Amino acid sequence: MEDKNLQGKLLIGHDDCNNSNNESFDDVLSQRLNRRDLMKLSAGLIGSTLFGSFMSGCNSDETTPATSPVAAAALLSFTPVAKNMNDTVTVATGYTANVLYRVGDPIKLGVNNYLNDGTDTDFDSRSGDCHDGMKYFGLKADNSGYELTNSTNGLMCINHEYINQNYLHTVAEVAAINNASRIPAQVDKEMAAHGVAVIKITNGGTGFALDKTSGYNRRITATTPMKLQGVAAGSSYMVTPYSTTGMATRGTVNNCANGYTPWGTYLTCEENWNGYFKYSATGRTAKEVAAFSRYGLSATSRYGWESVYTQWMATVTGADATADYRYGPNTFGYNVEIDPFNPTSTPVKHTAMGRFAHEGCWPAKATAGKPVVFYMGDDSKGEYIYKFVSTQNWDAADATGGLTAGAKYLDSGTLYVAKFNADGTGNWLKLDISETAIATYATYTFADAADVAVHSRLAADAMGATKMDRPEWGGVHPTTGEVYMTLTNNSNRAKTGSYGLDAANPRYYTDTYNVTTTNKGNVNGHIIRWKETGSEPAATTFAWDIYLFGAQSDANATNVNLSGLTADNDFSSPDGLWFSDVSKGLMWIQTDDGAYTDTTNCMLLAALPGSVNDGTATSVTSLAVPTNGTADQAITTYVGAKPGTTKLKRFLVGPKDCEITGITETPDGKTIFVNVQHPGEDGTTTALTSHWPDGETTRPRSSTIVITKNDGGIVGI
Ligand code: FEO
Ligand code: CA
Ligand code: CA
Ligand code: CA
Repeated sequence: MEDKNLQGKLLIGHDDCNNSNNESFDDVLSQRLNRRDLMKLSAGLIGSTLFGSFMSGCNSDETTPATSPVAAAALLSFTPVAKNMNDTVTVATGYTANVLYRVGDPIKLGVNNYLNDGTDTDFDSRSGDCHDGMKYFGLKADNSGYELTNSTNGLMCINHEYINQNYLHTVAEVAAINNASRIPAQVDKEMAAHGVAVIKITNGGTGFALDKTSGYNRRITATTPMKLQGVAAGSSYMVTPYSTTGMATRGTVNNCANGYTPWGTYLTCEENWNGYFKYSATGRTAKEVAAFSRYGLSATSRYGWESVYTQWMATVTGADATADYRYGPNTFGYNVEIDPFNPTSTPVKHTAMGRFAHEGCWPAKATAGKPVVFYMGDDSKGEYIYKFVSTQNWDAADATGGLTAGAKYLDSGTLYVAKFNADGTGNWLKLDISETAIATYATYTFADAADVAVHSRLAADAMGATKMDRPEWGGVHPTTGEVYMTLTNNSNRAKTGSYGLDAANPRYYTDTYNVTTTNKGNVNGHIIRWKETGSEPAATTFAWDIYLFGAQSDANATNVNLSGLTADNDFSSPDGLWFSDVSKGLMWIQTDDGAYTDTTNCMLLAALPGSVNDGTATSVTSLAVPTNGTADQAITTYVGAKPGTTKLKRFLVGPKDCEITGITETPDGKTIFVNVQHPGEDGTTTALTSHWPDGETTRPRSSTIVITKNDGGIVGI
């Protein structure tokens, strides 16, 4: 999702809806317990004793390819790519990037080639727009089903997060768009360009290509029927005219990052879904108004689809919820499970995993006999980090269990939210109706467990979770088990007040864009990480530090460029984050930036991170801003070991006005796939700012690219 809010553009999503009074950083600071050294000591002892158990658990990990994983080299060997604003993909020397799958590309036989002039239709049978999270699943050579290790035949699941209307319609149509009265055919096209694609891709020896003949190829869109499962399914919150029993809904939208399961299915995550509805408070109870307000519903929808389809009109007009879509928004905001190997299966929205602006959903290593654990972020300003712990323990016999296993592990479990304490410890706070803070919450009276699931944000408020600087992608280090999550930026972060600084979100400063514009807050973002107590994913306590701070290399070294970034690796607004399963320990970072784009296009970096507490406790001072009279203040935070130029390098820079997002690999690690989202998004058809990927005369197109090492080796090492 674009981060252009820093420049005052495209204010879609990520809004400030968190007016809770919890998590004042002053309170957190006053609780500082000075137990940092004790934490370090105990973490070290626990780590050494658990290393053996981790190693013995490897064989039960069904998510890791069997292809001989290799330890990533101690230092990155490729030559870093220089920052640039070229309208092309620049990849490190020794590597090649080819375009695989562009918006509009036919995914089925009999579909016309994409004209790319705004007249194309049939997006049910074409690539959608704005490629985002994705995952490669190996497919048996005879195409009969899942094969974890197949690196030449696979099914790719790809999110199509949203649309760029300028490039989807003709010039005249774009000029005439009126959200109060949309033209049905245009809305149909836009809804079909959203969602997810499942495509078969094959490498016959000359590189991957899409196989349009495959029966697996499928589009899931904003109109596809969906099942609702878990605690809130069938509750009164989910009743609509489409499903008067509250067991189903239609469509998935704003599918941002992704996840996957140990049982061979794909998770697509609904992020800024609130913007798709036109909402009214008229005729609602005060409790309902509080709930919808907390989720940022408003009277203005992003695309005006409600002018054609009442599904998107969240207003009280009928006698009850079976007669209007007053509760339509309650059926969005979930992780959606898709079985790529069963093309007729109905996707499932798993309500027990909570409802918020789900960026993505990342599994911990599955261990037989223990719960399955997923980490999740809520990407809006000041929102929270969550985890889901299944009730059922992992049974490796479910490794190809598909949606049946999904129901077993994802429909019953415990949802937690993270609190990052000032002393470098953390707590997972249970979101359960039995918790006193939830049961007695004065701001919102929870009725039952379904209410808690549907209104996870309010339950997290009640528990006193830590307001973060926009949680984006997460990842679990394949050897240490430590969890990393990007916090992309937060223009609302301030020195004091409800978004005041805290140890886990410690920066407030000023950055200049194009000389004339000044950005404030946490402009460049950071990456937090934590180690679960005992290295148990289901633990309820953890130790944390900040692995990396985004910054310009020439920024203030003691308060802004805390990780010592240089010209070889400086970046802003980390978003995508992903660990290779093949080169163990190699992490990739992608940017979705609007703050450093006066200097460089968005990028992909490779990293070799260490471990929690490998750095130092550091006092950071917020920096004075002329228009803000609040005195500067010092915050103690925990800065990970500086990477230097050998453990963090820029690997790729994208074309103009793009975001680099979405990354996955073949099981042999010799091919990685990366998405280039919305190249040229700041332009129009009459004033193109990007011509990528196809040249001078065409409209720019979001695309999946394929990156290989020229010597045929594993990418990145
Ligand atoms: Fe769709 Fe939070 O990025
Ligand atoms: Ca982003
Ligand atoms: Ca994102
Ligand atoms: Ca700047």
